Amino acid sequence: MGSAEDDHLPKKQTHKSINDQTKYKLKLLVLIILTNLLTIYIFTGPSLNLHPILKNTINDSPFPSFGSTSLLQELNATKNELETSRSQIIVLHLQLKSTNQLVTELLAQLNLLNQSINRTADSSLLNFNDLLDDLSKEAKLGLGPHKLPLGLSPRSGIDEVYPSVGGGCLMYKEDLAQYMTYNVGKECPVDDVFAQRLMLKGCEPLPIRRCHPKAPAGYVEPIPLPKSLWSTPPDTSIIWDPYTCKNYSCLIERRKFPGFYDCKDCFDLQFREKTRWQFDNGGLDFGMDQVMATRRQGTIRIGLDIGGGVGTFAARMKERNVTIVTTSMNLDGPFNSFIASRGLISMHVGVSQRLPFFQNTLDIVHSMHILSNWIPDTMLELIMYDIYRVLRPGGLFWLDHFFCLGTQLNATYVPMLERVGFKKLRWNAGMKLDRGIDKNEWYFSALLEKPMS
Ligand SMILES: *[C@@H]1O[C@H](CO)[C@@H](O)[C@H](O)[C@H]1NC(C)=O
Ligand SMILES: *[C@@H]1O[C@H](CO)[C@@H](O)[C@H](O)[C@H]1NC(C)=O
Ligand SMILES: *[C@@H]1O[C@H](CO)[C@@H](O)[C@H](O)[C@H]1NC(C)=O
Ligand SMILES: *[C@@H]1O[C@H](CO)[C@@H](O)[C@H](O)[C@H]1NC(C)=O
Ligand SMILES: *[C@@H]1O[C@H](CO)[C@@H](O)[C@H](O)[C@H]1NC(C)=O
Ligand SMILES: *[C@@H]1O[C@H](CO)[C@@H](O)[C@H](O)[C@H]1NC(C)=O
Repeated sequence: MGSAEDDHLPKKQTHKSINDQTKYKLKLLVLIILTNLLTIYIFTGPSLNLHPILKNTINDSPFPSFGSTSLLQELNATKNELETSRSQIIVLHLQLKSTNQLVTELLAQLNLLNQSINRTADSSLLNFNDLLDDLSKEAKLGLGPHKLPLGLSPRSGIDEVYPSVGGGCLMYKEDLAQYMTYNVGKECPVDDVFAQRLMLKGCEPLPIRRCHPKAPAGYVEPIPLPKSLWSTPPDTSIIWDPYTCKNYSCLIERRKFPGFYDCKDCFDLQFREKTRWQFDNGGLDFGMDQVMATRRQGTIRIGLDIGGGVGTFAARMKERNVTIVTTSMNLDGPFNSFIASRGLISMHVGVSQRLPFFQNTLDIVHSMHILSNWIPDTMLELIMYDIYRVLRPGGLFWLDHFFCLGTQLNATYVPMLERVGFKKLRWNAGMKLDRGIDKNEWYFSALLEKPMS
């Protein structure tokens, strides 16, 4: 400050010419301002170093010795410092504010985490309605519960019912929400592929929707039996949108072109389908008549073909007066529609669902290619137990071309079938050589029986 005073000495000389009265008034004014500024300073904060000025003003009685210019300069300096400190305070304030926000946000996150930890730990305490919480009204309608109009039912002991849906549905709530988005009473979205994928993920059965499936244009009455069993249905019988092929001739021709498709040559009924199970080669290929001959004539009447492709097993059994229900998935082909067009019963279910049959009812269960080592062991054992359940005592389980590795055959699958309780009537294993002997890939075909007692 001292050096600043010296620098301004020439200016001081010029100011001397202002008359004394004006000088005095100015001094008074400056004093008032200074007092006010000091008050502001005292109340804003101690960060500014004003002590020298305070000393000069109060103790040394500044008026006689201080020129107006130096006072102004002091004032200016003070003002500048004040301004600086004020802006510092503003910056500090802003920083504090953002820190505060950060802490609040962190706390909120922590709380969320805490809640989710709680939720996982206490999931058994969660109410089914909580799980439905963020679903649309229509989705909630499809998943229930619904109050019984007559109140508590003595038969079931409940006063509300839940429509049946797969437990997996709630693991894929976004997909479920999408599936349940449609115009009530109008045409459903053509979302077969999406819906089936949802089924395969464990949302099976899917919830019921209040909409109409798109109707095929130019639908004609089906071909009459028994001709329908071995006829290709008209292209106008189905909606082709979900499939790569857009007509049956494309599906029939598919076997001649490269590319992997499930049941690639199945739609050509004049090709391999024509001869399936008609002959017994003494190995993996069992003949239908040979299998039927293990039971008394006419006692194989009803049954199930799991993953039955285009339904040829059922068609051949129908020719033997046996009624077979065929389960099938529409994996890039209208398998269910095709089976139905042949005049056979198709069921659109995967392999993970409990079979919708009562225990001890079916004479025969057949399955080719579908049950194999792609299914987790635990799940496969559940499936085997369910097949055992629905078969009647003395009923047949024809496990046709089960694929696995040589190492799994005796280590996993033979013990599993024994554990479930099947009795072996016939067993053939054969190496699958098309990908090389070193792959150690095997097929086995088995005719198993549910024991009479
Ligand atoms: C006050 O200080 C500022 C910045 O230091 C300077 O630009 C200004 O000229 C000064 N005013 C007076 C009257 O000395
Ligand atoms: C998290 O939850 C536990 C008890 O459930 C509680 O003691 C803790 O304070 C919670 N923490 C936060 C950040 O909410
Ligand atoms: C966690 O659950 C307990 C009871 O199980 C409850 O008292 C507590 O408030 C819950 N904490 C959070 C953060 O939801
Ligand atoms: C069937 O569809 C294919 C393409 O997928 C097309 O090239 C062919 O002309 C169609 N055939 C008939 C009979 O419509
Ligand atoms: C199937 O049933 C019909 C009528 O009941 C009978 O005429 C026919 O011989 C039966 N076919 C076989 C293979 O048993
Ligand atoms: C499985 O075991 C049987 C007899 O126990 C044996 O003959 C057969 O070679 C074995 N199969 C494989 C693939 O190891």
